[in-house]
Amino acid sequence: MNITIVGTGYVGLVTGTTLAELGNSVYCVDIDEKKVEGMKNGVVPIYEPNLEEMFLRNIQAERLFFTTNLREALDKSEVIYLALPTPPGEDGSADLSYVLKVANDIGEMMTKYKVIVNKSTVPVGTANKVRETIAAKTTIDFDVVSNPEFLREGFAVEDSMNPARVVVGSSSDKAKDIMAKIYQPFTNTGIPIIFMDEKSSELTKYASNSFLAVKITFMNEIANYCEKVGADVDKVRLGMGSDDRIGHRFLFPGIGYGGSCFPKDVKALIKSGKDDDFNFQILEATEKVNISQKVILVSEIEKYFGGNIEGKTIAIWGLAFKANTDDIREASSLDNIELLLQKGAKIIAYDLIAEENVRKLLGDKISYANTMYDALEGSDALFIATEWPEFKNPNFDLMAKKMNNKAIFDGRNIYPLEVPEQNGFYYKSIGRKTIK
Ligand code: UDX
Repeated sequence: MNITIVGTGYVGLVTGTTLAELGNSVYCVDIDEKKVEGMKNGVVPIYEPNLEEMFLRNIQAERLFFTTNLREALDKSEVIYLALPTPPGEDGSADLSYVLKVANDIGEMMTKYKVIVNKSTVPVGTANKVRETIAAKTTIDFDVVSNPEFLREGFAVEDSMNPARVVVGSSSDKAKDIMAKIYQPFTNTGIPIIFMDEKSSELTKYASNSFLAVKITFMNEIANYCEKVGADVDKVRLGMGSDDRIGHRFLFPGIGYGGSCFPKDVKALIKSGKDDDFNFQILEATEKVNISQKVILVSEIEKYFGGNIEGKTIAIWGLAFKANTDDIREASSLDNIELLLQKGAKIIAYDLIAEENVRKLLGDKISYANTMYDALEGSDALFIATEWPEFKNPNFDLMAKKMNNKAIFDGRNIYPLEVPEQNGFYYKSIGRKTIK
């Protein structure tokens, strides 16, 4: 099938590359000429494990093309995916101007039947808005469907080639058949495709992400309570997760959730609710708890230093909002850096790949180290903000030599308690006893 993807951000690029891998001819459209030129020459504009290989393979096979010319791509394709940004406005609601602008252009340019697929995360009712926008410009037959993505950063290729499910919201049988054909390689291998109406499909995305944010936040509160009563959240987590109604995943406590989806989607669902005169009380509480959870270790660092951290040098391992990505959007590291700086501490940070993004944001307000051990040179404490694998089995002797104090504040619970204990470190993690 011939498919156009409008928008080559994270979702668009991964979706386009996956659809090409499934044998379709895919035309990726973006307004950024430099980016398009780069992609034509094999430059992948984002970091995502295993993406580059698949991207290059499909360019080579002449199934994946890039252009700034929407009309040209439209003429070649029956199915148009919209993978455009929907950034949160001041009030938390999703800004639909990019989506509706392209819908308008499609209405003006289309010359025969098209299926327009909303891939961006959009509020309930957006498929209708897209439909109205296009219908205002053309009398040609078309359908609008909702097909949310559930990709995790760092696992996008894996998730897109082996999704848990495909959700399609469509009120047109013709469009349903076309979507079923596109995803047939998945359904053939037993991956379910779930058809529903457009609004339910749009809400499924927000409900899934918000539920996971609630699940994490619930566990963060349990962890905080564990500390109060002397329980161990690792044990509680295992005990709970073994009930398959609960499951082991997304029960890991830490310094809060971040990234491009959970914070934005929780906010947007709260806002949509308000617009419809509905209060999402559980989401409001989740948001509030997450904000304080992100910086929960700062007071612990202060306590360790007797209440004053002015002039102390804190080494930070990990800047990305989670491992396997260079994304720092809503990263807990940033909230902690800001608060620690406010309190007069100095920061020396290390991240495998996210340093460049933080430099763009913070410049020389903090220092950066080339290796995880360099970051510890002359530091008074170590703060672990991201669970990068390279931090999980470090050389504790070398760490001790470089640090002024053998103190670790671990926001991701990456060590079993006996490890820092055997190595003689002060170790404060989340929901577990403090090793002194
Ligand atoms: C998420 C959803 O998982 C994905 O389905 C959706 O399409 C986009 O949003 P992503 O933001 O890439 O994906 O990351 P995810 O792995 O879900 O983690 C989100 C945040 O939650 C991270 O900050 C992570 O550190 C945190 N988290 C996750 C926890 O604190 N505990 C957990 O148990 C799991």
